[in-house]
Amino acid sequence: MDETKLLKAARVLKNSEFSMAFTGAGISVESGVPPFRGEGGIWSKYDPRTLELNYFYANPLESWEVIRELFYNFFGDAQANDAHKALAQFEEAGLLHCIVTQNIDNLHQQAGSSKVYEFHGNSQKLKCVQCKNYYSPDDIDFESLPPHCECGGLIKPDFIFFGESIPMAAYQKSVQAAAQAEVVILIGSTGEVMPAAQIPYMAKQNGATIIEVNTETSNFTKSITDIYLNGKAGAVMRELYKAVTGEALN
Ligand code: APR
Repeated sequence: MDETKLLKAARVLKNSEFSMAFTGAGISVESGVPPFRGEGGIWSKYDPRTLELNYFYANPLESWEVIRELFYNFFGDAQANDAHKALAQFEEAGLLHCIVTQNIDNLHQQAGSSKVYEFHGNSQKLKCVQCKNYYSPDDIDFESLPPHCECGGLIKPDFIFFGESIPMAAYQKSVQAAAQAEVVILIGSTGEVMPAAQIPYMAKQNGATIIEVNTETSNFTKSITDIYLNGKAGAVMRELYKAVTGEALN
């Protein structure tokens, strides 16, 4: 870890009146949740078409078999890691205002973060496409797919499929945060997917300092990143937490 960059990141965080985090799949890799792109990426094993809205409506069983394997059988018992915990403890210490996440794994909430704006929704909520009734994963019999509501409608996970619009409330709160942010901690994202990846760019345009934590460079690194902390999210965030607070992450 580059000590000087770490201390510089700690200094800007400590002096910031309004810091936010922007997270992608990379923050959850150490929790056992594979990324979408890069080594072992989901899209190298599964056809992204199965998560396109029109394809899901036309082939609900095929899509649901992929959805069950990816988001319910496998991810169901993932636990928040030190990177999620560091952000939650920064929030508790008044050092982080909110998190904008592209992830649907609920691990920020599990770590104790309360202001989490979910750009792509959350896999822990499911909704009937007909009567809009909400369900939790415990209500679903994953042995009889595709699941249907009492009203007969198809049940869909309440996360955003390709071709689906971003939840308005999450979008608006994220844009507001980007307008106020003095610092953005950008963790584990390629920056490949819009409009989510616009948020760090908006913050940069408003004068924010961008701290990026990633094992590789991303679309952000060469364009907007000011302080690039190369490494795994868990280890880097443990070090950053210690450099900012003087205490070890508990
Ligand atoms: N620590 C930090 N970063 C990591 C780690 C790790 N342990 N492991 C992987 N990464 C980085 C990779 O280098 C990459 O930059 O995490 C990023 C993962 O990239 P993506 O899988 O593209 O994740 P993300 O940017 O969140 O994808 C955006 O694409 O398919 C859609 O809706 C999906 O929200 C997702 C969106």
